[in-house]
Amino acid sequence: MNKISVMGGRKLEGEVNISTAKNSVLPIIAASILSGEKCVIDEAPMLEDVFVISDVLRTISTDININEEANRIVIDSSNIKDCEPCSSLVKKMRASFLIMGPMISRFGKFKLSLPGGCNIGTRPIDLHLKGFSALGAEVNVGHGYVEAQAKKLVGNKIYLDFPSVGATENIMMAAVMAEGETIIENAAEEPEIEDLGKYLNNMGANIIGAGTDTVRIIGVKNMKGTTHKPICDRIEAGTFMVAAAITRSKIKINGVNEEYLKPIIAKLTEAGVKITSDGNSIYVDADRDLKPIDIKTMPYPGFPTDMQSQMAGLLCTIKGTSVITETIFENRFMHAAEMKRMGANIKIDGRSSIIEGVDKLTGAEVRATDLRAGAALILCGLVAEGETEITDVYHIDRGYVSIEKKLQGLGADIRRIMV
Ligand code: UD1
Repeated sequence: MNKISVMGGRKLEGEVNISTAKNSVLPIIAASILSGEKCVIDEAPMLEDVFVISDVLRTISTDININEEANRIVIDSSNIKDCEPCSSLVKKMRASFLIMGPMISRFGKFKLSLPGGCNIGTRPIDLHLKGFSALGAEVNVGHGYVEAQAKKLVGNKIYLDFPSVGATENIMMAAVMAEGETIIENAAEEPEIEDLGKYLNNMGANIIGAGTDTVRIIGVKNMKGTTHKPICDRIEAGTFMVAAAITRSKIKINGVNEEYLKPIIAKLTEAGVKITSDGNSIYVDADRDLKPIDIKTMPYPGFPTDMQSQMAGLLCTIKGTSVITETIFENRFMHAAEMKRMGANIKIDGRSSIIEGVDKLTGAEVRATDLRAGAALILCGLVAEGETEITDVYHIDRGYVSIEKKLQGLGADIRRIMV
């Protein structure tokens, strides 16, 4: 298994280009099976999660061509035969569940192996299933599987108990060809949902309000093929903003949308980082002393849980006490134990982590316990004294395109060790 080695202590400089968003491209790939016509995704991020969801769809005879040089994915689902994808692949990635909505919509059925727990919590799918039932599907859970069937889906009003990103997306996809009108209330408002709404509308759907708390879907008869470029990855951009902050450097980040980054910009600014923007680029200047801050993760437009571990790394290097409260996932402080191995002073108290800034972090062998925790450990390695070796790098490869190459481009001393 690959490792990443970082020698700490270098300032960063220069510019970095941000890829398109993992959390946009995954539902977009899933949505592509709503039509039997060809769909093309341009400038797609070449990530492990993209390869896994593609493999899941291949097991139900979807023809997916991934051109890694051109960053283009061509999806042809005209030959899908059955609706029971390979369970070992489904279990590999939770986002596989995004194919439930498109399958019940186009084929009136699906059967999937149920997700177990993952490193950041139990992550149930009850809200997805409630939505399908409200549209008229018969849903059964048992023997480790979830199965659903429907002769026809009929639009309905669905109130989500929590604004779940995946449930909002799945119900939108299930409802596009349902009879009549579906309204999702208390929907998640993440920009990736707005992007999915645009994609679905380009495929022929009639969706109003995707990306707001009320999504209206008026059922259409057919969906067609289309071409799309997903939005930029706000979490990758945020991770590079923290890379500049933790090394007290100045860098330019290209290909971003400032609007999506508002909560991250607000918190870094509160810590004393200077951030300016010109259209598609953001300039981060952290070449100064920074102040401790408190953070509470919330559904969008609140502070993203996917940036929590990276911010924890930064706050370990800022003198004084910072508190991070995690309200989205129940077990998202796995990075703390690894950061402590690097000399961090973090105490976990229920859903909060209390971080006391230390004079220095020290390089150590640490484990990427999940995707964002892994990225956070790389960030800590950038400032730690000596060498930090990060294992279980496959977690990081799920969601970052060539993270070590992008950091090398900014002057970091980082390399991948193929084991
Ligand atoms: C998506 C993102 C993930 C991000 C998360 C929260 C993708 C592919 N992944 O994950 O990167 O961290 O949003 O911003 O877009 N819940 C239930 N029942 C459900 C569904 C969710 O209780 O049926 C709970 C979850 O356990 C969790 C919370 O709701 O505590 C948020 O989950 P959700 O918004 O659904 O996250 P995902 O869509 O899985």
